[in-house]
This record gives sequence, C-alpha cells and structure tokens, in this order.
Amino acid sequence: MTASGLRKLTAAAKTPLYAFSILTGAKSFIGNPVLGSRRLNEIGLHAARVRMAERLGRYRRNLLAARLDAADRTALLRDGFVVKSDFLPVPEFERLRTEVFGRAWDLREMRQGHTVTRRVFLDAASLRKDNPALGRFITSPEVAALLRFAGATGGQPVTSIQCILANQGVGADDPQCAIHADTFHSTSKAWFFLHDVGPDDGPFFYVPGSNVLTPRRLEWERAQSLAASSHAMRDHAEGSFRISNDDLRALGLPQPLPVTVRANTLVVADTFGFHGRTPSPAATRRVELYATLRRNPFLPWTGLDPLAFPVVKERMGSFLTTLDRFGIAPMPWKPVGQMRIDAPPQI
Ligand SMILES: [Fe+2]
Repeated sequence: MTASGLRKLTAAAKTPLYAFSILTGAKSFIGNPVLGSRRLNEIGLHAARVRMAERLGRYRRNLLAARLDAADRTALLRDGFVVKSDFLPVPEFERLRTEVFGRAWDLREMRQGHTVTRRVFLDAASLRKDNPALGRFITSPEVAALLRFAGATGGQPVTSIQCILANQGVGADDPQCAIHADTFHSTSKAWFFLHDVGPDDGPFFYVPGSNVLTPRRLEWERAQSLAASSHAMRDHAEGSFRISNDDLRALGLPQPLPVTVRANTLVVADTFGFHGRTPSPAATRRVELYATLRRNPFLPWTGLDPLAFPVVKERMGSFLTTLDRFGIAPMPWKPVGQMRIDAPPQI
C-alpha cells in the first residue's frame, strides 16, 4: 500500500472517533474534520452543540442550586461571575498566606507571550498534615459549590497555587489578554487573591451578562464556526473564540469590566462568558489560588466524576503530574525545580 493510501485508511478508521467527539467537550475546529467541517456547521452542527450544552447545563444547574446562597446564584446567572470580598476570616487568611509563601514548592511554568504562568499542583492528603489552611481551602465545600454552579456541572475542581508573572520583557502579546470565551459551553474558574490587584496589576476582566446564550450569541457562534478552522488566531481555531469590541456591541453586550480586588477576595466565573486578563503596563508578579472545573457538557447527571474518586481526589496533584510524566495527559506546565512561589521566572 502506498503512503497516501495508508493515510486515507488511517483517516477513515478515525472517522467514528471524530464523529463521537460531537458528544464530548471537544472544541477544536482544526484536526477534527467533523467539528471543523464548514458544510456541517452551515447546517448547524456547532450551533446545535452550543444549544444542547446550554439546555443540559440549565438542567444540571437546577440540581446544584440548593448548595449556594441565593445572592451568589443570582450574580452567577445574571452576570456570569461573582466577587466575594473578605472571603476568609482574617486569621485563617493570614495562616494561608504564611503557608503559601513560607516554603519552597515544586514549581511548573508555561510561557504565553511575555507572561509566565507558574503552577503548583496540590495533594489534599499531604496538605492536611503540613499546610492545614491550604488543605481546608482546596477542600472547601463552599468554593466547590460555587465552581459547580458557575460551570453547570458536578464533579471535582482542580486547585493549584498560581503565580502570574506578567510583562516579563520578551515574547509576543499574551493571548489571555484577548477578549475570549474558553469554549462553547459553561466551564468555571476561580481565583482567590493573596494580594490586592489594582487597575495596573493586570486584573481579570469579564463582560457582564455574556454568559447568557441569547439568540444573537447563538447566531454569532454559528457565524464563527463556519470559518473557525482556517482562522489566523490559533486559539480561535481551537474553539476558544476571540471577540472584538465591535462584535460585543453588535451582540448588545457591554464592554469588559476589570475586576480589581483586595487581597482575600474570591472570584468565580463561568468562562463561556467573555473574559480575559488586562495587560499590565509594568512587570507584575501576583499569587493566587486557582481552581478550574470542566466536564463533558452533554452529561445528564452531576455525579460519577473519576476525579472525585477518593484515591484520586486526595492526591490530585500527584495524579495529574504522573499522567503528564507518562505522556497520557501532557500538560503545558513544565517542571522548573523547587523554589518559592514568587521566585523570578525560570523559562
Ligand atoms: Fe480564558
């Protein structure tokens, strides 16, 4: 068999997998001829996935709603994000800060343009013993309930210590600074800030109300899906759509709102809404606890998350870094050694 014949045969063998990915959270329009097909998207494939995910998300949110305050529910449904100032009692916050800054950690780093993102993946089991305030935070039922409702899914959030080192001299623009949605359905992220973040410190921004799937948003999603596979911006082509200020206006949405915060503030957001990171004019270094939750948007239930099995949940950091080491689930953060969380960037 010729090389081109073999390629065709391999592609044909993968077709059922490509087709099956319609029912998963797969979002990239490149590398998948089904999701990226202009013809299928013209007849509404992407729009149907967006609509179906939203409908099932609403159903799952109803199952999760009783676990959080009415005010938080209202903010998340109306605005797409919630800001909880003075989240921890002051002595607990001080203990947590001391634990985060008081020792060296196994750091991993990734560079996006001139911004370096540093992460420490955490194991609840060992934290409970050595860093109890941190252990309490990453197992907090309140934080988990907010993340689940925002992301319209049950399951186990993954929490790490994160340090954002912005404007580190070299590199292109940080792609996180573009106004974007993470994917075609609700997913959630949370940031618990250990410092004040002012307007010049690269604060998170969010377009209030952009979490709501309106007819205009659905039409915009459909329009993007037609040309996404050949879009010049790779993140857009991979299904994390970028949006211009003009398009925001056309969708009847406001301009992005920078979320400046005091230390000890928790922000939780549904990242189907448009958001990003404000560029910082100077080099900044900020430390936060960062949590994320994303599951298949087509599940009709909220349980049965493999990451929530006790053996995994208690050693999440070790589990994820082991999957990375054996190439099963590679992560973009590469180990850079043991250092303090606010050390200078290593990559
Ligand atoms: Fe994002």
